Amino acid sequence: MIELQDVYKRLGTRDILRGLTVTVPKGMNFVLMGPSGTGKSVTLKHVIGIFKPDRGNVRVDGQDVPTMDQKQLMALRKRMGYLFQNGALINWLSVADNVALPLREHSQMSRTDIADRVHEVLELVGMAHAHAQFPPNISGGMKLRAGLARALVTNPEYVLYDEPNAGLDPIISQQIHELIAEVRDRLSVTGLIVTHSRACATQCGDRIGILESGRLAIEGSVDEIVHSDHPLARAFMGIGSD
Ligand SMILES: Nc1ncnc2c1ncn2[C@@H]1O[C@H](COP(=O)(O)OP(=O)(O)O)[C@@H](O)[C@H]1O
Ligand SMILES: [Mg+2]
Repeated sequence: MIELQDVYKRLGTRDILRGLTVTVPKGMNFVLMGPSGTGKSVTLKHVIGIFKPDRGNVRVDGQDVPTMDQKQLMALRKRMGYLFQNGALINWLSVADNVALPLREHSQMSRTDIADRVHEVLELVGMAHAHAQFPPNISGGMKLRAGLARALVTNPEYVLYDEPNAGLDPIISQQIHELIAEVRDRLSVTGLIVTHSRACATQCGDRIGILESGRLAIEGSVDEIVHSDHPLARAFMGIGSD
């Protein structure tokens, strides 16, 4: 379980988070929505300990993240995949080498074991055929899949998804959403998904929280948010909001 409890965070001269409370129970995809610049990515960075809250608690499975030392943070990050916007692949490494990176850096696995694991996870995301390609030569959807493979390669219990469908067309987006739902269902991965997209929220989310002025303005099941009269729920979930 991921828990942010009454989190405050000031960056520069701006109070970004002001009493944010989010609970992500195990086994579900929690969708965090909200206008640009409201602190969604900042929230994800608190979960993996890149940012520490000025006030409040951040816990993963009951463990306090801000007080972790470097070794504990490394252990946490092994259990937590991070899918960055656009995949954030390294352009001069092949798809397979990008995916292998977390294992080369954070595990004692042999070369052949790494190669086997990379193949397995590329297969899972439908990218085995493209293992030798380089990021500049593949489509946005393929980059996202490769980024997801890299996030999954250490077999994490959690994956944080930062705008997984940004810049993708609706058809490719839907494939990515199906993949994210499959990662939850087949691998029992707990997800925290940042998105603006109603399609993403409804196709792979279980609960939705909408961030405004540094805290959740509204939170509920996908069904509750879809049918809510709250203006923010209407803005993000209403027809034509995608
Ligand atoms: N490292 C940082 N230093 C200063 N300000 C930051 C930093 N990271 C993010 N911010 C600011 O915090 C605000 C929220 O950012 P972010 O979480 O990236 O928004 P979004 O909801 O679009 O993901 C923005 O105004 C951004 O400029
Ligand atoms: Mg962001």
